[in-house]
Amino acid sequence: MDPRLIVALDTAERQQALDLVDTLLPVVGTFKIGLQLFTAQGPAIVREIAATGAGIFLDLKFHDIPNTVAGAIYSAVRFPEVKFMSLHAAGGRRMMRAAATACHQTGGGETPPSPDHPALLGVTVLTSMGAADLHEIGVPAEPAAQVEHLATLARAAGLDGLVCSPLEVASLRRALGPEAILVTPGIRPVGADTGDQRRVATPPAALAAGASHLVIGRPITAASSPLDAARRILAEIS
Ligand code: C5P
Repeated sequence: MDPRLIVALDTAERQQALDLVDTLLPVVGTFKIGLQLFTAQGPAIVREIAATGAGIFLDLKFHDIPNTVAGAIYSAVRFPEVKFMSLHAAGGRRMMRAAATACHQTGGGETPPSPDHPALLGVTVLTSMGAADLHEIGVPAEPAAQVEHLATLARAAGLDGLVCSPLEVASLRRALGPEAILVTPGIRPVGADTGDQRRVATPPAALAAGASHLVIGRPITAASSPLDAARRILAEIS
């Protein structure tokens, strides 16, 4: 079991998600529940997957006013087995600080934070957005500069880490130091179909560049044998 590997359960189907967890549990310890699965199946799917003993990355990418995001985090930390949660760093410093406080005071408000609280991760610039998309919404900076700007703000606001593309992870590792949790999707083993991902790296390359965790979906979940695909990736990074 390698704690660096997180498998994305991108399906709306409860049984398909549970079958994947069941198949992969011998070699994968953490599964990502995103907007698709959560919207289709609701909080029950989080509890069902948690009941298998798997860790969960609850990737709901919260983005709202500070009070609302803090309230959502307060509810989410009460799910069992949630190891990671995400929000949009573009929500600003006050929103991130309120969220970090709600996340870190899970044990009933103790200070310092409970050591087993989930890691709160900031999403900087979505990997689907290029320079033209940023400029269109009124952000004049280039994506790399905007990512670094938001990452620094996220750290100052008390977040535990960031979700970033493998192409940004080296500069963020340099900027944020060895302790930061840096989770990278956009991972493709050599020869794998890139699908809709554009900014990709192989599992060993992403780790060498500074990723602490890899989120991998289709290269495992769409393989003819997800277990063999996961084993091959684990062998590549071991
Ligand atoms: O199937 P694939 O390996 O491309 O899945 C990647 C996962 O990571 C998906 O769940 C996707 O939503 C997520 N993700 C991403 N890019 C981001 C943030 C999350 O691909 N910037």
